[in-house]
Amino acid sequence: MTSPRPGSGELPHGRPPQTEFDDGLDYPRLGSVTFRRGTLTDNQQALFDEHWPRLGTILTDEHIDVESWFGRTGAKTIVEIGSGTGTSTAAMAPKEPDTNVIAVELYKPGLAKLLGQVVREDISNIRMVRGDGIEVLARMIPPASLDGVRIFFADPWPKARHHKRRIIQSGPLNLIASRLKKGGVLHVATDHAGYAEWIDELVDVEKQLQYKGWPWPECPQLTDRQIITKFEGKGLDKDHVIKEYLWEKQ
Ligand SMILES: C[S@@+](CC[C@H](N)C(=O)[O-])C[C@H]1O[C@@H](n2cnc3c(N)ncnc32)[C@H](O)[C@@H]1O
Repeated sequence: MTSPRPGSGELPHGRPPQTEFDDGLDYPRLGSVTFRRGTLTDNQQALFDEHWPRLGTILTDEHIDVESWFGRTGAKTIVEIGSGTGTSTAAMAPKEPDTNVIAVELYKPGLAKLLGQVVREDISNIRMVRGDGIEVLARMIPPASLDGVRIFFADPWPKARHHKRRIIQSGPLNLIASRLKKGGVLHVATDHAGYAEWIDELVDVEKQLQYKGWPWPECPQLTDRQIITKFEGKGLDKDHVIKEYLWEKQ
């Protein structure tokens, strides 16, 4: 089987790589989400071909050179996992111009939508990685290098037999903690009551992350998501309550 063309944003064929963590913690098991495909419109494809090589990359085993990718030194860096179509990503980034934002998503049409917005609105502080957020953190982000991690409206996997696919579990929390600098912030939001109960039980499970609750007025990073996302909008329509969580790396 041939490999995808470099710079095309296509992930290699076959089963995606999965790190074996042998720390006794719980990690999401590979679900069908990992194989999510999607086609782009001709316009999106043209835009992708032109701008993805500069603004995006796929999961690799190489650490991201943040300073050269963003073309500056000394800026804070935040990774957003599961950016979807990038609604909050693109709304927040201009409000935090001194922060490098790396949006990680599996779904190519979502990334194409964000890429389009980044180009049209000339947003200079967003870059994108296509891949599983767990693998991107494990393989591409050096330890103690991030100022923040965001996970907004992660797939709730409502059925009990799918709970093991949820991204908020002891393993990812430990991995996130290891990638944050001291004082770094993890920000999670969900509109799913069942997922909120699940997270409530995990807020203190990772000892390197001190749970700060919500709101946390002295939080050193932007916590206002600016606009309601597509998923949040749907949640609000159903009278769902949005629950937000903040932790500080010790
Ligand atoms: C419910 S959507 C929310 C999207 C966006 N954060 C928002 O609020 O509109 C969840 C997104 O997470 C992505 N996703 C799920 N698991 C992921 C993973 N392990 N790594 C990266 N993205 C993931 C899905 O493809 C989907 O786009």
